[in-house]
Amino acid sequence: MLHLLPLSTLLLITSTLASPLAPPAPKPLPLLIWHGLGDNYAADGLHTVGDLANETNPGTYVYYIRLDEDAASDRTATFLGNVTEQIAQVCEDIATHDVLSKAPGLNALGFSQGGQFLRGLVERCGDTVKIRNLVTFGSQHNGISKYQICKDGDWLCKSYVGLLKANTWGTWVQGHLVPSQYFKATNDSTGEPTPEYLDNSNFLADINNERVLKNVTYAKNLARLDNFVMYLFEDDTTVIPKESGWFSYTNATSGEVVGLREREIYKEDWIGLRTLDKRGGLHFRTTEGGHMQLSDEVLREVFETWFKPGEDDWSGAGEEGQEIVEL
Ligand SMILES: *[C@@H]1O[C@H](CO)[C@@H](O)[C@H](O)[C@H]1NC(C)=O
Ligand SMILES: *[C@@H]1O[C@H](CO)[C@@H](O)[C@H](O)[C@H]1NC(C)=O
Ligand SMILES: *[C@@H]1O[C@H](CO)[C@@H](O)[C@H](O)[C@H]1NC(C)=O
Ligand SMILES: *[C@@H]1O[C@H](CO)[C@@H](O)[C@H](O)[C@H]1NC(C)=O
Ligand SMILES: *[C@@H]1O[C@H](CO)[C@@H](O)[C@H](O)[C@H]1NC(C)=O
Repeated sequence: MLHLLPLSTLLLITSTLASPLAPPAPKPLPLLIWHGLGDNYAADGLHTVGDLANETNPGTYVYYIRLDEDAASDRTATFLGNVTEQIAQVCEDIATHDVLSKAPGLNALGFSQGGQFLRGLVERCGDTVKIRNLVTFGSQHNGISKYQICKDGDWLCKSYVGLLKANTWGTWVQGHLVPSQYFKATNDSTGEPTPEYLDNSNFLADINNERVLKNVTYAKNLARLDNFVMYLFEDDTTVIPKESGWFSYTNATSGEVVGLREREIYKEDWIGLRTLDKRGGLHFRTTEGGHMQLSDEVLREVFETWFKPGEDDWSGAGEEGQEIVEL
């Protein structure tokens, strides 16, 4: 007697037989997104970006970096905390994450301060967390020279900035107030960072290997990226100076900008940028608008150009991974 198999069974058999010959198309690597000051990992705007990544490269698993599962506390951590400890926590969270820890590599997108923190993650935690492509928007890789973070009329923010300004190089401020840890003071007549900065900066002076003793691991890890793409906003008036997003130094007196390639940090390859550049992996980009005025068009282009799945990408998080719902 002849049994007719249902069509679905036939299809199943066919695809099972065919699979060794035609491996599934490579899935994009998971994407880490680190938000900026005053934002939180559950914010709608941020998830729109993640959705667009998934739409551009279908199947992208997106992880929104957070320092607390509670969104309000995660936002607070953008203002308050020791960045060294924050990066160590994120390193640990990713290393023990069900999906992220199994992926062969990760892509990363950092907004504003989230950009230099992701770079810190690459430098410090690169043996554990394998980031392949890092894209930063409006970040402060060479620090800020002014605290321009409050909206008009926000007295709470103004008193916070008052604290920052009053004692930027104090141990308490450096250990607790986030923007102070990437504030940078330079002597404009010599172009050298000030001794106070070098002695006390809790984050930036270390991560940029500006002190006499350099950590070679930082340079090795950063140079290992496939691509490091740095976007500047053309009309950024929040990040002062905006060229910080490209590791440039701006003479505050004359306004003259010294590009990364003319600076010691590059020429002496303190953090691996020169090695990366010689290999064609360092990219300087500009985009229209003020600080964090991002268009879908630019984001889509970023996802298509830098986060497109390659031959050696993986077969995906699988059913199990997709069940882990963010939020
Ligand atoms: C990506 O998009 C697909 C199709 O809309 C959806 O089924 C899937 O859940 C999305 N994945 C993530 C991680 O958001
Ligand atoms: C250099 O950085 C690595 C990674 O963070 C760390 O494990 C190591 O202890 C650091 N080395 C020194 C000399 O500080
Ligand atoms: C920040 O945290 C690290 C690690 O716990 C600690 O070693 C360092 O002293 C702290 N920095 C400040 C300025 O408190
Ligand atoms: C800047 O450096 C010059 C030369 O070393 C020094 O004379 C001057 O006092 C410094 N300025 C400040 C504000 O520290
Ligand atoms: C910064 O600009 C001032 C004013 O033009 C100039 O005197 C000074 O030498 C410049 N500093 C550096 C490091 O080029």
